[in-house]
Amino acid sequence: MAAPVVDAEYLKEIEKARRDLRALIASKNCAPIMLRLAWHDAGTYDVNTKTGGPNGSIRHEEEYTHGSNAGLKIAIDLCEPVKAKHPKITYADLYQLAGVVAVEVTGGPTVDFVPGRRDSSVCPKEGRLPNAKQGAPHLREIFYRMGLSDKDIVALSGGHTLGRAHPERSGFEGAWTNEPLKFDNSYFVELLKGEAEGLLKLPTDKALLEDPEFRRYVELYAKEEDLFFKDYAESHKKLSELGFTPR
Ligand code: HEM
Repeated sequence: MAAPVVDAEYLKEIEKARRDLRALIASKNCAPIMLRLAWHDAGTYDVNTKTGGPNGSIRHEEEYTHGSNAGLKIAIDLCEPVKAKHPKITYADLYQLAGVVAVEVTGGPTVDFVPGRRDSSVCPKEGRLPNAKQGAPHLREIFYRMGLSDKDIVALSGGHTLGRAHPERSGFEGAWTNEPLKFDNSYFVELLKGEAEGLLKLPTDKALLEDPEFRRYVELYAKEEDLFFKDYAESHKKLSELGFTPR
């Protein structure tokens, strides 16, 4: 599909949608699943074939029924009334805006948002998103394929400061922190504490402790929340713009 024309009117609609998303996310407490939607639309990017990425393709049944997207139809449906009110805005922009707003309203850093993503109806094959049962080599394989770095892997994993796992969706259960609706550096603090009663650690979370290069960032982010916020905002912007060149 053609790229949207980002003129003054489009920018005005973005600002209105931003306000609508803030209100929606606050009233439904749905920041975690909105962030997960943005990440799963973007995280299919393949830097070599330039396919996948933040292009709204996750709105199609073919893609949201992938095993790793279990539950995300809820977030897609929550976005529909905002899309209906601001039809000019592409799904691709709307989902990434929802991710940025989710981080902001839960107390996280401001992530710069540049609109203009085009929508695609081409869905990537299943299997491009990370498998939580794997280790560091798998994380590198998946995130390097997106064109992202070790630092991006650790900073973005901090997104698990929000939300929880649901047994009926992923087979895992529980939240990573004691305040899953607050965006802070507690994911890293809890990770370094080791097994804690009631808190979740996926194999891929633990892999960040075992790999020395990853662990370096875990320790930094646990100690310095400001640094985590700065790096997270940069990595989240990169994720939200994979394969997209703002004009
Ligand atoms: C939830 C895996 C990276 C944001 C989950 C769940 C799994 C998972 C298994 C539980 C889903 C459920 O049962 O509802 C992974 C793996 C990653 C990864 C293996 C590889 C590093 C990320 C990234 C972000 C993110 C990069 C965002 C920056 C979230 C959020 C939730 C979540 C916010 C909570 C959703 C909710 O509460 O409904 N993730 N994830 N994850 N993930 Fe990740």
